Amino acid sequence: MAQIFDRSSNALARMSLILTGLIVIALGVTLDQLQRSPWVTRQGQRPDQPVPFSHKHHVQGLGLQCQYCHISVEKSSYAGIPPTKTCMNCHSQIWTNANLLLPVRTSWAMGNSITWTKVHDLPDYAYFNHSIHVNKGVGCATCHGRVDQMPLMYQQSTLQMEWCLNCHRNPGRNLRPTTEVYNMAWQSPTTEKPIWCGTSGLKAGVPTAQTVNCIAAEPTQAGAQVASLEMLPTSQHAAADTAMVPVSLSYTRFTSQDALGKYLIQQYNIRTPRELSSCEVCHR
Ligand code: HEC
Ligand code: HEC
Ligand code: HEC
Ligand code: HEC
Ligand code: HEC
Repeated sequence: MAQIFDRSSNALARMSLILTGLIVIALGVTLDQLQRSPWVTRQGQRPDQPVPFSHKHHVQGLGLQCQYCHISVEKSSYAGIPPTKTCMNCHSQIWTNANLLLPVRTSWAMGNSITWTKVHDLPDYAYFNHSIHVNKGVGCATCHGRVDQMPLMYQQSTLQMEWCLNCHRNPGRNLRPTTEVYNMAWQSPTTEKPIWCGTSGLKAGVPTAQTVNCIAAEPTQAGAQVASLEMLPTSQHAAADTAMVPVSLSYTRFTSQDALGKYLIQQYNIRTPRELSSCEVCHR
């Protein structure tokens, strides 16, 4: 053999082996990066829409609640996109001549709906459900970001499996009182800004969780309770009013998300991280 292949070709063979190895590794790394890149996950992109609908104007500016338009978010797996009728509640009177709104008026006149481009879109083999998250105290902003500050909608999170699992393995970090799920600006309690939480012991109009009421001032001051109830979303008012009746609201003081998370995991009967990360939860 040595006569046919001299020393240098031996080295060459070794070189090319190493080179192939390196290329394979590099390819693997690139593919992995690509898989996580915003180009693949669509994170942060603002797709073209038939109407440049602004959440910033309608939520922050006009003070509309999410449920006004996404009516099924508490009750079903889908949050739902509003029909043209919802827009016409106002736009049959406001901005009636604006060119921007022409597709809205046309769709109303023709009786068909506007075809919005989906911003979030999980693959079909992954099961997701809004109602369970919302009823167990995961806020819209935790997954969708500050929607009230978005002139045009974009996807804030990657929605990759890793992202889901990150929370399922340690949900306590991301839980808040159910009364605060729509609050875009909610912040975890701290020693400087503690909160007091109590349960009414009554099932509120939600299927899975007891309502936990939290307030930002020592509950002994009667005024504080009233003030905080004023700030609840309208759909929660009925439940909150019942909680106002002289009942048995026993409050606990919380100064960290850690402690609040542990308390809410118990109140909401959240499954263990192990159960929540098993494949059948999301792949049925
Ligand atoms: C006046 C009606 C209205 C209100 C109020 C409203 N939305 Fe929307 N929302 C829409 C419309 C219309 C779309 C579809 C167009 C788009 O994506 O911008 C949409 C889209 C979305 C999407 C993306 C849907 C997709 O295609 O993946 C999310 C997430 C969302 N809204 C969250 C919220 C949250 C959170 C709130 C409350 C803070 C809220 N919305 C309040 C009308 C509304
Ligand atoms: C509660 C009343 C109300 C509803 C419901 C409503 N709008 Fe509006 N919309 C307004 C008002 C008021 C303005 C003017 C806002 C401004 O100039 O700050 C506006 C402005 C707009 C504009 C102009 C651009 C902008 O954001 O300033 C568009 C486009 C628009 N709306 C689309 C929609 C669509 C689509 C829907 C239904 C999904 C809808 N609106 C539902 C009240 C409403
Ligand atoms: C745990 C994370 C999470 C929370 C909390 C959450 N969403 Fe979503 N949302 C998603 C995911 C994931 C999708 C994509 C679902 C799909 O493609 O099947 C989505 C899709 C949407 C859509 C598009 C229509 C649909 O139903 O697929 C709207 C609108 C929406 N969310 C609104 C809201 C509102 C309003 C809230 C708060 C009340 C909220 N979401 C809370 C993760 C979340
Ligand atoms: C910020 C935290 C958080 C994120 C992010 C999150 N989840 Fe969840 N998820 C929860 C909590 C809390 C529950 C309720 C668990 C319980 O009640 O035991 C839950 C429950 C579920 C359930 C159980 C529904 C049922 O009826 O058994 C499914 C399915 C699910 N999540 C899918 C997903 C998927 C898919 C994603 C990613 C696209 C996701 N979740 C992202 C917190 C989260
Ligand atoms: C909390 C929800 C959740 C759980 C639990 C979960 N997955 Fe996933 N999985 C997802 C989502 C969401 C996607 C889609 C990700 C995407 O679009 O990039 C996915 C994608 C996948 C894929 C496609 C390839 C990929 O990585 O994108 C495979 C394979 C997979 N999951 C296997 C599993 C196995 C095996 C388990 C159990 C050990 C599991 N999953 C548990 C949510 C989950």
